[in-house]
Amino acid sequence: MNVLIFLLFIYGSWALPRLDPLVDTKKGLIRGVQATDGDYAMFMGIPYAKVNESNPFGAAVPYPDFKETYLANDDTSICIQNQQRTKEVTGSLDCLKLNIYVPNSANTRNKLPVLFWIHGGRFQHTSGGRRQYGPKYLVKKDIILVTINYRVGLYGFMCLDTPEVPGNQGLKDQLRALRWVKENIDSFGGDVNKITIFGSSAGGVSVDYHLLSKQEKIFDKAITQSGTSLAPWAFIDSDRTLPIRIAEKLGVVINDSEQAVEYLSNLDPKTVVAASLDLSVTYRPCIEKEFEGIESFITDYPVNTPIPKVKDTPILIGYNNLEKLFEYANKLPEEYNEDVFVNNLNLAFNAVDEKLVKIARNFYIGDEDVSIDVKYDLAEFDSDFTFIHPIHRSIPKYLENGGKVFYYVFKYGGGRNYAKLRENITGPGAIHSDEKGYLFDMAVLPETPTVEDQAIIDKMTTMWTNFVKYGDPTPETSDLLPVKWIAVTEDALNYLEIDSEQTLKKRPIHARMAFWDLYYKMNKEHLKGYRNTEL
Ligand SMILES: *[C@@H]1O[C@H](CO)[C@@H](O)[C@H](O)[C@H]1NC(C)=O
Ligand SMILES: *[C@@H]1O[C@H](CO)[C@@H](O)[C@H](O)[C@H]1NC(C)=O
Ligand SMILES: *[C@@H]1O[C@H](CO)[C@@H](O)[C@H](O)[C@H]1NC(C)=O
Repeated sequence: MNVLIFLLFIYGSWALPRLDPLVDTKKGLIRGVQATDGDYAMFMGIPYAKVNESNPFGAAVPYPDFKETYLANDDTSICIQNQQRTKEVTGSLDCLKLNIYVPNSANTRNKLPVLFWIHGGRFQHTSGGRRQYGPKYLVKKDIILVTINYRVGLYGFMCLDTPEVPGNQGLKDQLRALRWVKENIDSFGGDVNKITIFGSSAGGVSVDYHLLSKQEKIFDKAITQSGTSLAPWAFIDSDRTLPIRIAEKLGVVINDSEQAVEYLSNLDPKTVVAASLDLSVTYRPCIEKEFEGIESFITDYPVNTPIPKVKDTPILIGYNNLEKLFEYANKLPEEYNEDVFVNNLNLAFNAVDEKLVKIARNFYIGDEDVSIDVKYDLAEFDSDFTFIHPIHRSIPKYLENGGKVFYYVFKYGGGRNYAKLRENITGPGAIHSDEKGYLFDMAVLPETPTVEDQAIIDKMTTMWTNFVKYGDPTPETSDLLPVKWIAVTEDALNYLEIDSEQTLKKRPIHARMAFWDLYYKMNKEHLKGYRNTEL
């Protein structure tokens, strides 16, 4: 039996005794470090798999067992990617690592539930390290937090319809990390039967794909923040020309996809990613072709996919009230373009005609021109279409399949609305990604939260971790959480509005959602991937 061993260790020149956590896992001994900002231990940068050097665009391979004690003290590795703003290429392929944060109260007799975080970043950016996803607020609530890296962008989502590069490697990396946790978290004092997966944005979409996938169910609860697989940006067609085009960019003419991939596989990944940048490719999950003996993850459009895993699964889901304002807040007058409607609709529907575009346009801006004068209306259209209505369509699917759904709308605007700060947006409300500042300790945010912000942190982390422990964010009301969060029922789309005060309400923005309900119903035969499915 694996036991959590604490060794007394003399730390640095201070000569202060510190607890130095050493854990015996199935993979070997792992040594972490004791945190200085709370009562917990950190095991960082544990390799859960390895990128296959011969085929870095394909399935990862197992990481060998540790022969010596693995020093898990470094969370800085990131999977190769370009910076969203500067386009600078950073990271490497030596990146399939996870971080485990364990409250000191965890041990073999007091097993704690596990919260497994899948970061977002459009399937193209960021990583799971502490700078972005610092654990201190969540581990205070006696749960184990796991954060992971997975391949993003080119090496995570190249999709060629071949057995070597079937696509969705990034999602399959996530699955491998989840399997590692299932196998080893027990040694850290984790309860293998209580694993909640959670993510925001592309991480939320990933969580939904784990619910959809035919692979084994390694979790018992799921939290998806601002993203589900029904979002129009959740999938993309395979593109067999991509490796050919990248090779060409590097000055080599190879007309065959497989040969081009082989060529790229032998190059420095930084060179390859840099060459791909000018091609402005979008990386997303794809619908995979199935191959004998090859593990697949997504084999049909989400709209057609049954979700039996949802049965008896508590799901916490929601969005931020001004999701897409980030796109419009700083847009210059000359950047406004009539195409915003048709371009968006084309993501979800085939053969969108002018009449269909006009209906959506008229609903949101009437006969006004698309211009900065209607920026809030455009942000509303984009928020609804891109984030909110896909969530609104996912909820009944969960219910029909026997899931229990807790629905929220986050609209608190404070000092930790991480994305609003980044975009210099003032005024009330919350935009895409803002809620993360109240769950995680983020390096870009003030070290000491204001009293108001701390109250939201306390409420959010308590509800989220209650959900992890009990499958219910408010099993009982308290001074901190005086409002009981009631699950969605067949008769009422209950949701918790999370602001300075919390309020239980029903059916958010019902008129806008009813518009899209009708729009999707009337145009379902144009829906991408549609196969006579009831929406
Ligand atoms: C790594 O990729 C190569 C090339 O596709 C393949 O032949 C090999 O079996 C892979 N290795 C493992 C351990 O899967
Ligand atoms: C590759 O395709 C280009 C354009 O289609 C053609 O001109 C060239 O001859 C082809 N080269 C090879 C090696 O097949
Ligand atoms: C926000 O404001 C800062 C300081 O004025 C500026 O450097 C930065 O570029 C602005 N960011 C955006 C997204 O406009």
